[in-house]
Amino acid sequence: MLAIIGGSGLTQLANLAVERREVVRTPYGEPSGTLTFGRLCDQPAVFIARHGYGHTIPPHEVNYRANVWALKQAGATSIVSVASVGGIRGDLGPGTLLVPHQIIDYTWGRKCTYHEGCDAQVVHIDFTQPYDPELRQMLLEAARDAGQAVMDGGIYAATQGPRLETAAEIDRLERDGADIVGMTGMPEAALARELELPYAAITVVANHAAGRGDSRLGIQFARLEDVLRESMERVRRIIEMICIEPR
Ligand code: HPA
Repeated sequence: MLAIIGGSGLTQLANLAVERREVVRTPYGEPSGTLTFGRLCDQPAVFIARHGYGHTIPPHEVNYRANVWALKQAGATSIVSVASVGGIRGDLGPGTLLVPHQIIDYTWGRKCTYHEGCDAQVVHIDFTQPYDPELRQMLLEAARDAGQAVMDGGIYAATQGPRLETAAEIDRLERDGADIVGMTGMPEAALARELELPYAAITVVANHAAGRGDSRLGIQFARLEDVLRESMERVRRIIEMICIEPR
């Protein structure tokens, strides 16, 4: 079963034919909200809103462990994450959709593994390719089928938030090779890997990152909502086309 984790601007999936909602508890605490079960493209699917349905949970307080655990427990076999980001590279302006292929993790202090506690084994997962290549291809194909332009590949810098970055921090991320910046990519991707759930993301550029393009002197919050509303509609169309049953 395909799981979708919706980010800012995607607190529900209009195209999900809802069958039931379920409150799930996990050994790691409460997920961000109820799981919504339904059908997408006539296949079972489950949806959770990463920041809660009322968008009340900031990125550093999301219980990523509970969310990913709950999806696995509910029968998910792969996860597609939807997330808004800032564009670092000049050509990644507001409204661009991009399926990243790499992550750099700048977050700190988040619960980032299931393998901790006094009697837990030390576990090191392979994370060379943080996003599942096959699921990425499925997303790119779905975008093609939906007639939506999506960029293939990019390096996602995961920052701590909730504040946005300084211009100098964005310069540093660029020197590190990052193309986009967001606050929720980690530890979500690593936790999915720990639970052996193929994971890929579709990101929506909401704004030029701090100090870039029309964010040169500051980020224009007033425009973000309009960009996200339009772009998430495109993301919904893409998700509707993910018709092949993932592993
Ligand atoms: N920085 C970090 N996260 C974001 C941004 C940004 O500029 N835009 C949307 N999410």
